Amino acid sequence: MLAVLSFTFSALLTSVAGTQFNAEVKQHGSFLKPVEYQHRLRLCNAYPGAEVFRVEKGGQNLTSRLAYKECQQVASKQSLRVGDRLNFVADQLPMSSFTVDALPQYDAMLYIVVQRQDAKSDAVAFQSHLFASSRNAQVAVMDTYVGKAKAALLLVNASGYESSKEGPGYTVMPFGTAFGVADGNYQVILSDGSAESKIHSPMQAKEGESYLVLRTGAGLAGKGSEMDLMVFPSPSWAERSAAKAWSLTIAFLAALFISMM
Ligand SMILES: *[C@@H]1O[C@H](CO)[C@@H](O)[C@H](O)[C@H]1NC(C)=O
Ligand SMILES: *[C@@H]1O[C@H](CO)[C@@H](O)[C@H](O)[C@H]1NC(C)=O
Repeated sequence: MLAVLSFTFSALLTSVAGTQFNAEVKQHGSFLKPVEYQHRLRLCNAYPGAEVFRVEKGGQNLTSRLAYKECQQVASKQSLRVGDRLNFVADQLPMSSFTVDALPQYDAMLYIVVQRQDAKSDAVAFQSHLFASSRNAQVAVMDTYVGKAKAALLLVNASGYESSKEGPGYTVMPFGTAFGVADGNYQVILSDGSAESKIHSPMQAKEGESYLVLRTGAGLAGKGSEMDLMVFPSPSWAERSAAKAWSLTIAFLAALFISMM
């Protein structure tokens, strides 16, 4: 019944004046080349429970196993095109697809999040957010929780609630919004209104990075569906990917060195 769900995010795109021109540059065997924009892609699993997804496009795997509360960045050699269909494959669920309906004429980071559609069925739904590249750290806030509990996401700096004499010492992050933040160390808190919320997650805001903050869960009886919080990239993910980039640089330099000998 829900074998193939198609979702698009064209409504999110705004056209930028002045980019039309670039798109019309044609190649006449000359020096002119169409401008290539860099569209990076991150895929996240916010489907509570044990379901593990794998995302493929045209028979190619874009991700390895994507467990609940994990995101993966797709290798940049897999460039995105309008019309691409990303298939989310899981063991116990019918396959569902996200179709790329439009891409902006600027460098961007696209997040696609798979989640439950509601608490009554196992059907999946998607949310996506497109970040234009920016020098600032940016944050998008989404609600993927399908249960009944009320809660808010708060951003506090690393020293916590009590740090500020002037204000409340925290910022409410409304669901469905995106904003820039100053570089620094923060905590994201999932607050149900009680004085001490135990659910929190660090966020190390770094210039140029795009962060996703999600409320997750389904509030169903059973393991792994409690209301929870997810922040991506986590500080440890950022460290690992920086280490990877560095080892690639070393490999590249070594290759360059060998080729010069
Ligand atoms: C994609 O991943 C699945 C599961 O790991 C594997 O069975 C399949 O062979 C992979 N496909 C390709 C084209 O590598
Ligand atoms: C947290 O915020 C307070 C008030 O704005 C500020 O005085 C303090 O230095 C901040 N702490 C950190 C670690 O950024």
